[in-house]
Amino acid sequence: MTRTTDRVALDDWYAVETSAELGAIPMRNRLLGQDIVSRRLADGAPLIREVLDDGSFGPPLPVAERYGCVWTSLGTPVRPIVDIPEAAETDRRFVPCGWVKMRASGLRIVENFLDMAHFPFVHTDILGAEPYTEVPQYQSEIRRDVDEVWATNCTFFQPRIAATEDKGDFVHLTYRVPSPFIVMLYRVCPTSPNRLDAIALFIQPIEEDLCRAQPVMYLVDSLSTQTALLRFEQVIFLQDRIIVENQRPLLLPLEPRAEIPTRADSSSIAYRRWLKEKGIRYGTTNRAA
Ligand SMILES: [Fe+2]
Repeated sequence: MTRTTDRVALDDWYAVETSAELGAIPMRNRLLGQDIVSRRLADGAPLIREVLDDGSFGPPLPVAERYGCVWTSLGTPVRPIVDIPEAAETDRRFVPCGWVKMRASGLRIVENFLDMAHFPFVHTDILGAEPYTEVPQYQSEIRRDVDEVWATNCTFFQPRIAATEDKGDFVHLTYRVPSPFIVMLYRVCPTSPNRLDAIALFIQPIEEDLCRAQPVMYLVDSLSTQTALLRFEQVIFLQDRIIVENQRPLLLPLEPRAEIPTRADSSSIAYRRWLKEKGIRYGTTNRAA
C-alpha cells in the first residue's frame, strides 16, 4: 500500500513517536501509507522526513512536541494540535502508556473508546460487571463552534473505576473527539471529585487497517505508583485490542449500524456523521484511493 491521497487525513497532525524515545539515531516509521524517518538534531529539535521511493529523504515535515509525543503531518494541517488544558496543570501525574499496534482502522479504535456498552463484557470486574449492563441515557453532539464531537452526562457502574479504587460506584464520564484519530475521556476523579482526570488516546494510522495507539493520561492521583497507573491502563487497553481486531469489516462503515441503533450508540452515530461531513475516507469502508 502507498501514501493516501485523502486530503482530510493528510492535512491533520498525528503523534508518531514518544518524545523520550527519540534521539540522534533515526527511527523508521510509517504514517498514512508513507514511510517516514524521525531523529533528533544536535540542538534537540526533532526532524521528520518522508522516505522516498529511491530511498532518499523528502524535505522536513511539519513537526511539534506536545503531550510527551512528537507530532507531524504529511500535508498542511488545517488546525493546531488538539488543546488539552489539563496538561498545563502542574499537580497532575503525566502517564504516557506506550504504543500498542492494532490490526484495525484507527476510526474503529475511536469508536470502541466511545462505547460504554462493552465495559461489563470486555473489562469484566474492572470497568463493568453484570448485572449492571445498561448504559444510562447521555447526550451526544457535534459542537460546531469547536468542530468536535462530545458525549456528556455519561454514567456507568464500574467495579473498579481507577487504580486508587477497589470498590464499585457509578462513574461520571465525558467523551471528546477533537480530531478523527484522537479521542479523550474525562472522568470525575475519585480522590478529588471537583476535578476531572483526562485520558487521551492518540492514534497513528499506519495503513487504513493498521495503526498504533498510545493512551496518555493526566491524572489527579498522588497515591498510586507510576507502575500501578501504567498497568491499570495497559490491562484495559490490551482487552480492547482483542475486541477491535475482531470487528468486521476492519474499516469503519460511515452509515449508522445496520442493526437498529440503541440509544447507547448515540456517540457513535454523532462520530460517524461528523466523519462523513468532513469527507474523510481513510480507514472507512468508502476507501481512499
Ligand atoms: Fe474498552
